[in-house]
Amino acid sequence: MKTVIRTIKEIAKIFLRKIGIFTHDPRNYILPAKAKRVLLYTAGDEFYGIVDLKRMARYRAHQSSPHPFLELYYRARDLTETPDFFAKETRLYTISELIQNHVFKNRIPGHFAECGCFRGHSSYTIASLLKQQNFQDTYWIFDSFEGISEKTPEDNKGEGAGVPQNFLISTQEHLKEILKPFPFVSIHKGWIPEVFATAPIASENFAFLHVDVDLYEPTKACLDYFFSRLSPGGVIFISNYNVSHWPGSIQAVDEFIANNRTAFFLKNQVEGCVIVK
Ligand SMILES: C[S@@+](CC[C@H](N)C(=O)[O-])C[C@H]1O[C@@H](n2cnc3c(N)ncnc32)[C@H](O)[C@@H]1O
Repeated sequence: MKTVIRTIKEIAKIFLRKIGIFTHDPRNYILPAKAKRVLLYTAGDEFYGIVDLKRMARYRAHQSSPHPFLELYYRARDLTETPDFFAKETRLYTISELIQNHVFKNRIPGHFAECGCFRGHSSYTIASLLKQQNFQDTYWIFDSFEGISEKTPEDNKGEGAGVPQNFLISTQEHLKEILKPFPFVSIHKGWIPEVFATAPIASENFAFLHVDVDLYEPTKACLDYFFSRLSPGGVIFISNYNVSHWPGSIQAVDEFIANNRTAFFLKNQVEGCVIVK
């Protein structure tokens, strides 16, 4: 019976795709440019809703087309063949604004870092902005390339319980290929926080950090390690904040904010949050 239902679902998917309706599978999906609508599922595979991509356009702050951010966003998406959804677009837009209108404009000194790169959508976007500025420091990138680490009780609350363990696996070779045009990038494979010791960064200063490691333990470890190394005015953007299937990451940020003095903390309306030192 299960096989019959699965077959019917697969046939329905093929039919829907023909009329521009794509199914969002959070574990393995690529959204083609011709998609008009998306059926959204939670990480636990429950039906969540339908997104009309055309109607969403009116919520964009960047109305002009072509827009430099959107061009970069889609170029990075196509190169990395990664998931594309509006919440992610808003996150990368916020990152790009923080980098250009705050870090570069105010000449915040130091390196850049990213913890959690997957196939490089955000890495390519950030590296492209750095190249435009003739960046002279290093953009350090850390990932296990073996997917998320061991979940802890903090990660298994609510929708987090439905997230599978072997999730978001990518390869270092693929990322290296994607980031070839950026000689200032240094990629480090291993588990956070142990992998930090493989890079000579212990006494370095940072201007910007992107944290996108999904779970409680690594998010907490990234904040603990990098905040003390952040230049005054330096920025941390945490992508998993406000995302219902990453409760552990949300908790790690809330605990960090409660226990540390920061100059600025902004919770994005959709996904992600900003910390300024
Ligand atoms: C959501 S993906 C990153 C997406 C990427 N920033 C983007 O925008 O395309 C999360 C990444 O975190 C990595 N990750 C999760 N837990 C980790 C840990 N403890 N140590 C190292 N990497 C980890 C996974 O391997 C995965 O590549």
